[in-house]
Amino acid sequence: MIIHTIKELRELVKGWRKEGYSIGLVPTMGALHAGHRSLIEKSVEKCDKTVVSVFVNPIQFCPGEDLDKYPRTLDEDEELVNDVGADVVFAPSPKEMYGEGHILSNDFLTYVIPPYFYVDKLCGKSRVGHFDGVCTVVNKLFNIVQPDFAFFGEKDRQQLIILKKMVKDLNIPVEIIACPIVREKSGLALSSRNKYLTEDQKNDALALSKILFNIKACYNKGINDVSALSETAYSYLNSNHSLEYLEFRDCNDLDEKKTADDDTIVFIALKIGNVRLIDNIKLGL
Ligand code: PAF
Repeated sequence: MIIHTIKELRELVKGWRKEGYSIGLVPTMGALHAGHRSLIEKSVEKCDKTVVSVFVNPIQFCPGEDLDKYPRTLDEDEELVNDVGADVVFAPSPKEMYGEGHILSNDFLTYVIPPYFYVDKLCGKSRVGHFDGVCTVVNKLFNIVQPDFAFFGEKDRQQLIILKKMVKDLNIPVEIIACPIVREKSGLALSSRNKYLTEDQKNDALALSKILFNIKACYNKGINDVSALSETAYSYLNSNHSLEYLEFRDCNDLDEKKTADDDTIVFIALKIGNVRLIDNIKLGL
């Protein structure tokens, strides 16, 4: 089933609540792949009812980013959702979410702004305002669906940490469930943006996971000096790569680590041509 309006979705959810069903929400921007599939499967397994939202959220794209060309594959998305056994796709229009004329500037729209300490680094540094847009839309989805559980991938680890902080700080009654990164056999983390890569670029994209796996292997052998671990990345990079960041940060509050430990997450972002890819790995279990 697909629903496009907030009113209809609210009615459906109200009925579920009356029956005492638990509700899971899987927020997505569509172009669903096996990574999303694993989130939906987790929700279907854990909750009586599952809503998958498909909404390319304009306010989390920065000027010059790929909002217009972001892949939109609603028919295939609906098929995948039905196949996994989720109950409904919620696919609102920007107008439905943000109102008549959908004026998206923060002069006119109430935003949820995550703390500066969490957004002045990693992706937040180059994508200024991105996490304001994410927190605002996720907060709206939480208010619309009022789920018991919401499922997010560890692939967007900074997003996950920021959303957990939002839920805690704003006392939102939802439990966030973190789901592991799904990778191709080659190691490449699944992402809707992989669709932009040519075959050659896909090959270059393997550098992300190779760098991370190698750093983890070195850490497991006893190296914990962050500069020594960072140095190991360079042998995987060539002139097709433009490294945006390789950083070692705490898994709870994103504080910088000088010495790696089990709570350290290694974050990487690099550009291949115009395609910006991210990945991360936790050094401990
Ligand atoms: O991770 C995403 O796909 C998006 O940032 C999200 C959480 C669906 C919000 O638009």
